Amino acid sequence: MVLAVCPGSFDPPTNGHIDVIERASRHFDRLIVAVLRNPAKAPLFAVEERVTLLKEALVHLSGVEVHSFEGLLVDLARQRGAAVIVKGLRSTSDTGYELQMADINATLLPETDTLFIAASPRWSFVSSSMVKEIARYGGDVTNFVPGHVAAALARHFSPNGDKV
Ligand code: PNS
Repeated sequence: MVLAVCPGSFDPPTNGHIDVIERASRHFDRLIVAVLRNPAKAPLFAVEERVTLLKEALVHLSGVEVHSFEGLLVDLARQRGAAVIVKGLRSTSDTGYELQMADINATLLPETDTLFIAASPRWSFVSSSMVKEIARYGGDVTNFVPGHVAAALARHFSPNGDKV
């Protein structure tokens, strides 16, 4: 049985994330989507909300679980017995950072490999930060995120752009 971990901030999850997770899930018996709780950053959505949003978006996939984690990704991978870390790659601008992380993770935990899935061209320009910026100023994000995520973003921003 091959278990993979797909880590990320998912603040919020986008259609690009969902697409990568859907395609990754075809290649593994179990896929753990691991949502980072990072005490050094102030996310828009609390980690519990991000987990709930992802669970709703991925309910149609069997073998996929969503959990939060804190600390090093390799510690989670080791605890869970993950053979693979799977990440999406959107563009060449992602590559340097992603290869750096893959190299560090491979040094810390050589038995776990990082595999990349090329993002679908349809979503290659979508990022959580841009989605947040559009939503903050009342723009329409429904082309970039699932409907329930768009609704959650709308709840978070008041008409004048302040977090509710
Ligand atoms: O969606 P993101 O923000 O690109 O995800 C980044 C993430 C969560 C994969 C990365 O920050 C991470 O793995 N953080 C956990 C801490 C860690 O293991 N750092 C060492 C690897 S360089």
